[in-house]
Amino acid sequence: MILKSISYHNFRNFIDEKFQIHPQLTAILGDNARGKTNLLEGIYFILRGEGFRESREEQLIKFTEKNSYVDAKLQERKTKDVSNLRIDLTLNDFGISKTYFLEKTKKGRHSYLKNLIPVVLFSPEQIEIIDRTMSIRREYFDKFLSSIDPEYKKKLTNYNQAFRRRNKILEIGFESENLDAQLDYWNKLLIDNGTYLIIKRRKYINYLNSNKTIDSKEFSIEYIENKISRERFSEILKKELLVKRTLIGPHRDEYNIFMIEKKIQKKDIHLYGSRSEQRLGLFWLKINELKYLEEYYRKKPILLLDDIFSELDHKNQKLIFNLIGNYQTVVTSTEKELTKLINLTNDSSYDTINL
Ligand SMILES: Nc1ncnc2c1ncn2[C@@H]1O[C@H](COP(=O)(O)OP(=O)(O)OP(=O)(O)O)[C@@H](O)[C@H]1O
Ligand SMILES: [Mg+2]
Repeated sequence: MILKSISYHNFRNFIDEKFQIHPQLTAILGDNARGKTNLLEGIYFILRGEGFRESREEQLIKFTEKNSYVDAKLQERKTKDVSNLRIDLTLNDFGISKTYFLEKTKKGRHSYLKNLIPVVLFSPEQIEIIDRTMSIRREYFDKFLSSIDPEYKKKLTNYNQAFRRRNKILEIGFESENLDAQLDYWNKLLIDNGTYLIIKRRKYINYLNSNKTIDSKEFSIEYIENKISRERFSEILKKELLVKRTLIGPHRDEYNIFMIEKKIQKKDIHLYGSRSEQRLGLFWLKINELKYLEEYYRKKPILLLDDIFSELDHKNQKLIFNLIGNYQTVVTSTEKELTKLINLTNDSSYDTINL
């Protein structure tokens, strides 16, 4: 399946625009602030039901407006059958609402998303997954696992709610009514939901560790579970009542990414990696995302490349370009960079969108 076209109404800086997408490679050209990233974000949005940089969903709507939609056509490569997608965004007194349509029929989020094309985004800012705090790595894995497994998303929401409620009880401490019974209740919810998260995280980490090589370098990842159980909860209770916070559980899990040198020595790239080693580590994560999605959905993901020329050295660029022939790709670029890209990919089959 490929993306054939996409239209925007009051989405970010677009009032009413329609774009045709090439089956192989589409380059979005334009000066700064013309809407290159917005166009990519819209593709991500129609296929994933969320944007990739908003902190609040209403930022996706043109800021002077209250209603917006993105509309797209997908096409089966073989049969040429076309399907219509649309997501409406509406700002009202209660906040923002999203309505999903498949073939002009309203759908629930899950049934809308389940048969679409998977999508993988590469952008230089994602280096934060490697070079910033553990919570960003946790968030990255949570977002990825939530996108492929609605149950994961649900259990994560339940876990976070239970976590906040339990912290409230710890804040009140001994003054709270039926302290033991209340804690027991929330402990059970945290254990039930948390155990699911841990199992799924472990499974994906095993997948990453069975695909270690990229560009003749090897990476691995260590997943350190912060164990959650009745026994651990009772051991730690005194301390928790003192600090008034939940101190154990998967919200404290750790992910450490290593580059393997000379087959034996492991180097934590968050702590010790050079910039280019960190970037390669990021590609390792991203390329595995791509492979995993392709195996999981048995569909080729669409590749979105934002601004990847700005920071990458020639070797890392080449790594990404090797993917282009294999996946439908949309890339933001400048005229000069595009020429370079076409030379590197040896691919004459492309289209440009000039913004
Ligand atoms: N909700 C919104 N409503 C209206 N305009 C918006 C909204 N969100 C972003 N914009 C504007 O859209 C314009 C295009 O943004 P975009 O990030 O797509 O630029 P770009 O072409 O990728 O530029 P650059 O080359 O700098 O990355 C910007 O001027 C931005 O302020
Ligand atoms: Mg941009």
